[in-house]
Amino acid sequence: MIQFGPEIDRGLMEETLAFAERQVTRLIEKYPGYYPVYTKDGKWKHEGPAWTHWCDGFLPGLMWIFHRRSSENGGRGAFWMEKAVEYSRPLEPRQFDRDVHDLGFIFLSSYYRWYQASRDPKLNEVLIQAGRTLSQRFVEKGQYLRSFVSEDSLFIDIMMNVGLIFYASRETGDRRLRDIAIRHALTTRRYLVRGDGSTAHEGIFDVKTGEFLRHSTQQGWRADSCWSRGLTWALYGFGSCYEYTRDPRFLDTAERCADYYLTHTNADGIPPWDFQAPEDSRKMVDTSAAAIAASGLLRLCRMLPDPVKGFYYWSSALHILRNLCEKHTARDDEPWEGILKGGVYHVHRNLGVNESVMWGDYFFCEALENALRHTLSNQARKANGRV
Ligand code: GLY
Repeated sequence: MIQFGPEIDRGLMEETLAFAERQVTRLIEKYPGYYPVYTKDGKWKHEGPAWTHWCDGFLPGLMWIFHRRSSENGGRGAFWMEKAVEYSRPLEPRQFDRDVHDLGFIFLSSYYRWYQASRDPKLNEVLIQAGRTLSQRFVEKGQYLRSFVSEDSLFIDIMMNVGLIFYASRETGDRRLRDIAIRHALTTRRYLVRGDGSTAHEGIFDVKTGEFLRHSTQQGWRADSCWSRGLTWALYGFGSCYEYTRDPRFLDTAERCADYYLTHTNADGIPPWDFQAPEDSRKMVDTSAAAIAASGLLRLCRMLPDPVKGFYYWSSALHILRNLCEKHTARDDEPWEGILKGGVYHVHRNLGVNESVMWGDYFFCEALENALRHTLSNQARKANGRV
């Protein structure tokens, strides 16, 4: 259960983002053209397997965040624009990639941000095609987008990717795409989100009949446990679904996931890697789940009709960010190459355990930039006497 401390200060967030910029600069100078997934003993480049190919958008995504930030702090905007384009462009062929369920991760972090910055219609075409490609994973019988592992498998993580299908539908007016995204989200809601707001990682279906058979997990402790990152993918993903549809069922689901997170996480807001892992193992936290939760809560707090609950989510996000900034960055560990320490990729395969992970760094910076932008606009409104 979260216990609140004083609110985060802007100085700490600004300093942390400045540190993040230095780490990414160092990464691209040391390993030009390299797209990392997780560190090994704090080093990005190593021979460890990726398991699946889903992280390439996060490095350019960080650069787009720094570029956007530079318009407010007068930083190295031109530099980050050039680098972000250089690292985004090689992802273009992935718009046709049918091997992964992760096209949302890849393109919403990179091409979507690029399109927001330039409004070049060619970039939008790439986003639309990527959304169409992702929609081809839809299994009619079971009403879900299949995971990369097999046709009978549905992952909670896919909720972070359906936004790309909603986007493609909105941009083209293709209702069929929207329908696929909605049906996937409803199936996930029905079978992977439990009554208490916790989530299962994976659902297994009978491919012949489409019948749901059982829960399973790849990265969580057990089929019946709640893997913390999966929960935060759901918190964030159902919130995005609500943004596109305004269907109250999705807001309700996002809130239930957020409430489970906030009532089960550690007092500092950083969760164990799995909420039901055995006591010793539960001491290991996953900072990447905390970063995703903070970012998801910052989005969700603005959608809630109840301002008191909105403020609770906003303060909780700031509380998590303050603790990540104060206790979990690599600022005092010079050789460490990542931004956020204490991320966990895949415990069972021993990949990226207690390391920096690319998505952790990305969602951490996304949340910091978002929080700073909104505190700034709130202050400006106050200064103009509008609040
Ligand atoms: N594959 C997404 C994750 O590891 O969370």
